[in-house]
Amino acid sequence: MKATEFTVELVRQVDESYPIVVGRGLESNLVDVAGRGELAGRRIALITDSNVRELVADRIVAEFAAAGRTVGVIEFPAGEINKTRATKEAIEDELIARGFGRDTLIIAAGGGVVTDLVGFVAATFTRGVPYISYVTTLLAAADASVGGKTAVDTPAATNLIGAFHQPRAVLIDLDRWLTLSDAQIRDGLGETIKHGCLADSEFFGVLEDAFVRRGLSPAKFVNDDGLAQLTAQRNCEIKRDFVTSDVFEGNRRMGLNLGHTIGRALEAAMGYTMSHGECVAVGTALQMRLGWSFGYCSESDVERFEALAGAIGLPFRLPASVSVDAIMAAMGHDKKGVGGVIRFVFQKGIGDLMVFEDGAYARPVDAELIRQFLEEQSAS
Ligand SMILES: NC(=O)c1ccc[n+]([C@@H]2O[C@H](COP(=O)([O-])OP(=O)(O)OC[C@H]3O[C@@H](n4cnc5c(N)ncnc54)[C@H](O)[C@@H]3O)[C@@H](O)[C@H]2O)c1
Ligand SMILES: [Zn+2]
Repeated sequence: MKATEFTVELVRQVDESYPIVVGRGLESNLVDVAGRGELAGRRIALITDSNVRELVADRIVAEFAAAGRTVGVIEFPAGEINKTRATKEAIEDELIARGFGRDTLIIAAGGGVVTDLVGFVAATFTRGVPYISYVTTLLAAADASVGGKTAVDTPAATNLIGAFHQPRAVLIDLDRWLTLSDAQIRDGLGETIKHGCLADSEFFGVLEDAFVRRGLSPAKFVNDDGLAQLTAQRNCEIKRDFVTSDVFEGNRRMGLNLGHTIGRALEAAMGYTMSHGECVAVGTALQMRLGWSFGYCSESDVERFEALAGAIGLPFRLPASVSVDAIMAAMGHDKKGVGGVIRFVFQKGIGDLMVFEDGAYARPVDAELIRQFLEEQSAS
């Protein structure tokens, strides 16, 4: 029998635009956005972690109650260790047990673990329901709230299983930053200075003025209305500009990986004892030093970055305890692997990225050259 073939013609054009609201005390704004358009008639599930529940759930539930809407609260244990398929399944079972169905609106309240995991729940629950992110950490505001990437971790790798699912709205409540520890604030500032470095020299200059010249502490930073708002806004705008031009990470979105090739490998080589933001700061500084040796950026660019990272309290050198072999292995190039290349995003200067042949935002660098460079850096 001869096989037949025919086409299901399906060209999708969807408008997935959404607003980002930045300010203080945004619980009432949350009620407002959850009441827009077809979201208004939906049953609301507020899904959060055990720490954030204490901080925000009662206020949010009360604010919705005042508007005549009930909210079911579902909590899971806080921490990256719980960003798993098992937690996702437990949340789904809870939603089903409480009678939530296709008419659900999910509110993900928390840091990046919550928005990633709960966004993924929203992506697959009854084949997809809308969700709103109410973002409570600086790191998530800086990096996890734009882009639509949702995921859970597996023992093999972080964020291995997930989906692209855009939120219907993102609310960045700067009041939530007031309960973050200094270490959590520094973590978010690591991604923030990366964004300044890759796209906005003016914003970088504002941060230099605050931290290098005025010596602002993390605690003072979160109380500074203007600076906190600018930080949330510029981080999201910069990420938006890269993401909207390349939703599925074909090329330009790779630019956001500045500092992450070494940064992520360092994080793994250190057994996740250093925070992501700290590793990104080291990765960005080392990328600049390597780029300087290639003639891409200047020595003064490197010095400015290191001065800003240092003033914030972020590291910018390899820790003495890490082995270059472990970093190379984490980049997929162990000792036995001969040859090979590693793709890097480089800076042209503060606020500007290198664009290579054919418009590529990343270029391959010989793995042996990277090993030598890292060995020199760890000796210095
Ligand atoms: N989707 C993306 O594009 C993207 C980008 C960057 C990072 N991420 C993900 O984000 C996660 C890291 O983000 P994170 O640091 O926000 O993680 P997180 O959500 O685990 O938050 C860190 C800790 O802070 C607590 N917390 C949250 N808000 C708080 C508040 N206002 N005050 C006090 N404590 C608070 C949390 O309960 C948790 O214990 C990682 O899983 C990472 O993969 C995703
Ligand atoms: Zn990052």
